[in-house]
Amino acid sequence: MDKKQTWSARFDSPLNPFIGEFNASIGFDIELLEYDIMGSIAHAKMLGKTGIISEEESETLVRGLEQIREEYKRGEFKPGVEEEDVHLAVERRLTEIVGEVGKKLHTARSRNDQVGTDIRLYLREEIGQIRELLREWQKALLRHAEEHVETLIPGYTHLQRAQPISLAHHLMAYVHMAQRDWERLGQIYNRTNVSPLGCGALAGTTFPIDRDFTAKQLNFASLYENSLDAVSDRDFAIEFLCAASLIMMHLSRISEELILWASHEFGFVILKDSCATGSSIMPQKKNPDVPELVRGKTGRVFGHLMGLLTVMKGLPLAYNKDLQEDKEAIFDAVKTVKACLRAMTILFNEGLEFCTERLERAVNEDYSNATDVADYLAAKGVPFREAYNLVGRIVKTCIGEGKLLKDLSEEEWKQFHPAFEKDIYEAISPRRVVARRNSYGGTGFEQVRQAIARFKTYLEGEGGLG
Ligand code: ARG
Repeated sequence: MDKKQTWSARFDSPLNPFIGEFNASIGFDIELLEYDIMGSIAHAKMLGKTGIISEEESETLVRGLEQIREEYKRGEFKPGVEEEDVHLAVERRLTEIVGEVGKKLHTARSRNDQVGTDIRLYLREEIGQIRELLREWQKALLRHAEEHVETLIPGYTHLQRAQPISLAHHLMAYVHMAQRDWERLGQIYNRTNVSPLGCGALAGTTFPIDRDFTAKQLNFASLYENSLDAVSDRDFAIEFLCAASLIMMHLSRISEELILWASHEFGFVILKDSCATGSSIMPQKKNPDVPELVRGKTGRVFGHLMGLLTVMKGLPLAYNKDLQEDKEAIFDAVKTVKACLRAMTILFNEGLEFCTERLERAVNEDYSNATDVADYLAAKGVPFREAYNLVGRIVKTCIGEGKLLKDLSEEEWKQFHPAFEKDIYEAISPRRVVARRNSYGGTGFEQVRQAIARFKTYLEGEGGLG
């Protein structure tokens, strides 16, 4: 801490070195550098345009800021903790480059509206990238769905075999979750895309600034209406962390299913070597690390959401230094969500294969067609509840005798109820059972084909099917 603090004029003695480090955010907010420069360029142009500084000074500032951007890209701009934060680091370097005029950049601005601007610009960009990754994830799921419309898989409730379904139907459920995630992020983008620049420290400024101009320069869709709200609002960041948590929750649910499916007990899916790892002691093992890590990383993103909500809950208006704690949470959530979406997309694109034979056997070795026996009787006029009770007795008898429903003889069926005929065998074959669930949104093959087609048409319309 040998350099003087930018704000040190009012202070008699230097900052305690540990407190200096404790206070500094440069270690992580350097991530905002590009956005800080964008914001400062817009501000510098506005200062020139409104005559608050001369056009020439404004141009000098812009050139200096562009140079810092280049220096950073080349790895030459490496501010240390003595700079406190990215905003002061840029201002100091600017003054080194352009001289005294650099000190005019901060006219009519505060780090409070500046940091709010930076974080919104950053998040706006990252939201766009995460939405693209969600599209890739959807396409990876969709490819498997198209291939597996007629592949059957046991459908579960309470993790008990319930009714057989189409594997494509199961995968499409996740496509729709990702769709809500994509739409949700679009709405959050709109609430993030609001300019706080020009709100100053908390109260606005005495200078004749032009907030519309800076907002336009930075492609913000609108302006904050209230300066206190502008510098202290992090709702958009909390909403983002909530959307990120939902994405992770969805990824974690499919991860859990993959982990189960890859187990010896299920054997529904094989993880390929490119996306699985071995054990250092048990030579036979192949571990589902990708879904396990995704499931595990979900916890930290939930944690960031709780963390930021808690940071905000007791803050009086307007800016408080507590707000500096928003950044690591946001950065880590962004990195985690992006990495998990990428890893899961790679896993589905090249790292797994469904064991269709095992799946076929699975749906043929249980009682998940029992509902269809009851439906069969109900269709013949037997009240459903009565049919349901009778089928319960039939299943119980079968379990007792160690056989499946399809193993019952025609005679045995008839003994249970005279309405049973030869066509009961066809009626309870898993393929038929699935095909007949042809209600809108159901698992019937025809419905699933239509659902996939509708989604593809939608993606084409979005220009998103490549
Ligand atoms: N590093 C600060 C943050 O991340 C920037 C704003 C500081 N403002 C202030 N008045 N100290 O929030």
